[in-house]
Amino acid sequence: MPKQKIDQIFIGSNNKGKLKEIANLLPKSLKIYSNLDYKIPSPKETGTTFEQNSLLKAKYFSKKTKKICLSDDSGIEIDILDKAPGVYSADWSGKKRNFNQAIKKVYREISKKDKDWKKKKIKARFICVLTIFWPNGKFIIRSGKIEGRISNLKRGKNGFGYDPIFIPHGKRQTFGEMDQQKKYRLDHRFVAFTKIRKFF
Ligand code: IMP
Repeated sequence: MPKQKIDQIFIGSNNKGKLKEIANLLPKSLKIYSNLDYKIPSPKETGTTFEQNSLLKAKYFSKKTKKICLSDDSGIEIDILDKAPGVYSADWSGKKRNFNQAIKKVYREISKKDKDWKKKKIKARFICVLTIFWPNGKFIIRSGKIEGRISNLKRGKNGFGYDPIFIPHGKRQTFGEMDQQKKYRLDHRFVAFTKIRKFF
């Protein structure tokens, strides 16, 4: 693995929520490039695991930009749905990335499995797999997860994606209600980031 500390990086994501969170985790001294300036279309996520998709994205953006690239593949697994939507978490929001639609689908699918689910604890977790890809072809992949449950009501306006329906273990607020800096320091992305921090 390259010994030299990384001093500039391209964040390979077109998801503004992720970009904001990742930029917040990285040291302030680091020069960050992103698709806010480059506008490179996202690759097709053809993998069937978070690892495959994370690597595929980091490699793709590194080849396009000739820079060291950091990519995130993440999603929510809901136990009663046999871990769906999982790697297809973004797909459930449709082409327009409408997460009201995705959340409605989550509630619909859970109701199909158990009509009384609102009285029960519906176990779920967020998973994040981060990849750093160097232009010389070297790469490192690390993952993080956070356990929790599905809120029976959509709550809170902060964050993105499934944040309004996820309550982390031991907390009462959904990620959507939580102060963003608090979420950034306990979630799946943070856990994965602690494992790659040494490269920066
Ligand atoms: P992908 O990694 O681009 O396939 O997208 C992952 C999807 O999972 C995102 O579009 C979000 O909907 C969801 N997701 C991942 N991480 C989070 C999070 O921290 N909060 C809420 N939703 C998330």
